[in-house]
Amino acid sequence: MDGDLVMDPQERSLLESLDSLLQSDAERAGIRPIVEQVRQKLAQDRTATMAWAPIPLSLYGRPLPESIRSSWVFILRANSATGAERHPNSRQRMMSYEGRGDLQTGGEGQWQSNPLVSDAGAALERRWISIPPNVWHQAVTPEQDWVVVSFHTVPPEDLIEERPHTADVSRTQQRRYLARSAEGDAPDLHIRIATAADLPAIVDIYNQSIPAGWSTADTQPTSVADRVEWFRKFDPARRPIWVAEVDGRVVATVYLSSFYGGRPAYDATAEVSIYIATAYHRHGIGRRLKQWVIDQCPRLGVTTLLSMHFDHNDATRRINESLGFQQMGHLTEIAVVQGQKRGLVIWALRIPPKTDRVLTGADDDRDRVVGL
Ligand SMILES: CC(C)(COP(=O)(O)OP(=O)(O)OC[C@H]1O[C@@H](n2cnc3c(N)ncnc32)[C@H](O)[C@@H]1OP(=O)(O)O)[C@@H](O)C(=O)NCCC(=O)NCCS
Repeated sequence: MDGDLVMDPQERSLLESLDSLLQSDAERAGIRPIVEQVRQKLAQDRTATMAWAPIPLSLYGRPLPESIRSSWVFILRANSATGAERHPNSRQRMMSYEGRGDLQTGGEGQWQSNPLVSDAGAALERRWISIPPNVWHQAVTPEQDWVVVSFHTVPPEDLIEERPHTADVSRTQQRRYLARSAEGDAPDLHIRIATAADLPAIVDIYNQSIPAGWSTADTQPTSVADRVEWFRKFDPARRPIWVAEVDGRVVATVYLSSFYGGRPAYDATAEVSIYIATAYHRHGIGRRLKQWVIDQCPRLGVTTLLSMHFDHNDATRRINESLGFQQMGHLTEIAVVQGQKRGLVIWALRIPPKTDRVLTGADDDRDRVVGL
């Protein structure tokens, strides 16, 4: 093993704690759909030697060591070498998750082999590698795709990959795995009313959110059969459920539900819920979908749009703040999620009813009056 990569006791104990997380059934269940989506991405781009997606840290039921700021699934294509790369700003800790491969280190002309396997019974050193910042590395894969899970010491948007410049190897070129601005990185979305045929995808996306424990009060996966009645109650004219597609694949669902059991006095009030497949988080889709729903509200007769979320759901908080929602309530400690007491935050956005008059530039089509 490369001198830089020798595991001191402190490093070993950190890897042991990450390893125990990745051996847990709950974590593996949360990671499974991300792996499947990364597989699909790799299948779609036949020229790529690898595909990846971040794993939200909230998916891990236990706190991670403080230095860990992001986690990723990478799939490295069979029979390929990914080519020299290094991370100038992050230490990479990587586990062979499914399959096997060689995570070589050292750089052109001096590659050293570090073969890794995924058998749970194998020694830590045969499954994990810890690569300091700026150490050149590349994956060399056998006849099957290699799935790895890695941890980095910078947040997802800050992780930089550096490679020798394609035109001039004396220079390097850098890229980020996620665009810094979520909006700038947003894929093309096709939003349409959901049909019964979308229900399996909707249920799958919903179930992906359960392990993170920050969006739903459900603790066990739900099934298509459980959701048939629920799905039937949506009404495209008043309380629709939509899906959003990227490249023809359903990656998100967003819907409106009646407030307080749909009693008539609350006819013009609806709650919005958004669920995005984990591999598509942090690409600006959540904010775009919520804005899109706001734009639909006048024609649906909704003048008060509610958004409710657990108080540790920072992404929804940020979206609501930026779109002009007002926080109207905070029911503290009313839920227990994965053993922790959580509160529910209630936001509202006032939306003027539909009128036939033409809005001028001076009109503000979103009244931010408070009070329910
Ligand atoms: C909540 C959710 C819809 C957000 O969608 P998204 O597409 O990932 O979010 P966006 O990319 O639009 O990011 C919105 C903001 O949240 C931040 N954010 C996104 N994920 C985050 C996370 N895991 N932790 C902290 N902040 C996060 C983004 O950085 C961005 O911040 P900005 O204000 O600086 O731009 C998505 O994470 C999801 O589907 N979660 C599971 C279901 C859920 O929680 N639904 C909401 C309750 S119904």
